[in-house]
Amino acid sequence: MMKIETVQGAKVPALGFGTFRMKGAECTQAVVNALKVGYRHLDTAEIYENEKAVGDGIQAGGIARTDLFITTKAWMDDMSPDRLRKSLDQSLRDLGIDYVDLWLIHWPNPKFAVEETLAEMMKEVKQGRVRHLGVSNFPVALFERAAKAAPIVCNQVEYHPYLSQSKIIDAALKHNALVTAYAPLGIGKCHSDETLAKIGAKYGKTAAQVTLRWFMQQPHVGAIPKASGFDHAKENFEIFDFELSGADMASIHALARGERLIQPDFGPQWDN
Ligand SMILES: NC(=O)c1ccc[n+]([C@@H]2O[C@H](COP(=O)([O-])OP(=O)(O)OC[C@H]3O[C@@H](n4cnc5c(N)ncnc54)[C@H](OP(=O)(O)O)[C@@H]3O)[C@@H](O)[C@H]2O)c1
Repeated sequence: MMKIETVQGAKVPALGFGTFRMKGAECTQAVVNALKVGYRHLDTAEIYENEKAVGDGIQAGGIARTDLFITTKAWMDDMSPDRLRKSLDQSLRDLGIDYVDLWLIHWPNPKFAVEETLAEMMKEVKQGRVRHLGVSNFPVALFERAAKAAPIVCNQVEYHPYLSQSKIIDAALKHNALVTAYAPLGIGKCHSDETLAKIGAKYGKTAAQVTLRWFMQQPHVGAIPKASGFDHAKENFEIFDFELSGADMASIHALARGERLIQPDFGPQWDN
């Protein structure tokens, strides 16, 4: 059964479906596949230029809006009050919905005080166009500022077996927030990992399934793997019928080697 994380009044399906690097008909079909498999949490962003395609998938999928948890993100250049509002206008229009469940600041922008940005975003919560707020790619100190300024549901960060996020997780737990793992499969690296495959063999599961299960067994941690085809989407969802032993959880944690796969030049200074 799907793990649901309840934080700050939000009920978040811990396994979501990522849509980065998919556009147009491919993206729409992937969303349709995901909904058919059973995913109810979809992750997109203004900058992915696929919200219209995701919206078409939502429309075609025929799942009741109240059963869906839809996350989108405002781009870091859109932090002024006017541009924030316009960004949300466009996200809602393209997605074909009248509220998003979770609206994230995609990357920190040092030119804007996060407290002011969140105060503007809170106005949309009051208006009902947004249910919950969160952040993405926030180092601990900035996350702490955000969590003091507004109810923050999650910090969405790169997290996979090759990159420990213990400090980010500790900060999230302290503020009753989730850590949502992006690039949870190491952008496709984990499925060919020998250690993960060996662990999987014990349970009759693949390396990708073991990786995703590892997130599900960590409190207040979720993951949003992307899959363009039906088979991977289904495989990645079939992780709720087995449990990793404590020893296997520890072996996966021991794979951490500080490998950061997403490091754009506009990104923050990380302290881990
Ligand atoms: N907040 C941020 O700044 C940020 C940054 C990056 C990503 N994200 C979000 O996180 C999501 C996931 O990250 P990601 O897409 O970069 O990487 P990912 O989910 O770690 O990996 C996706 C790759 O793994 C492959 N894959 C998926 N399932 C597989 C399986 N069972 N066996 C073998 N290969 C498999 C996919 O191939 P196929 O497509 O062929 O299945 C794709 O190449 C994104 O889609 C996006 O929504 C957020």
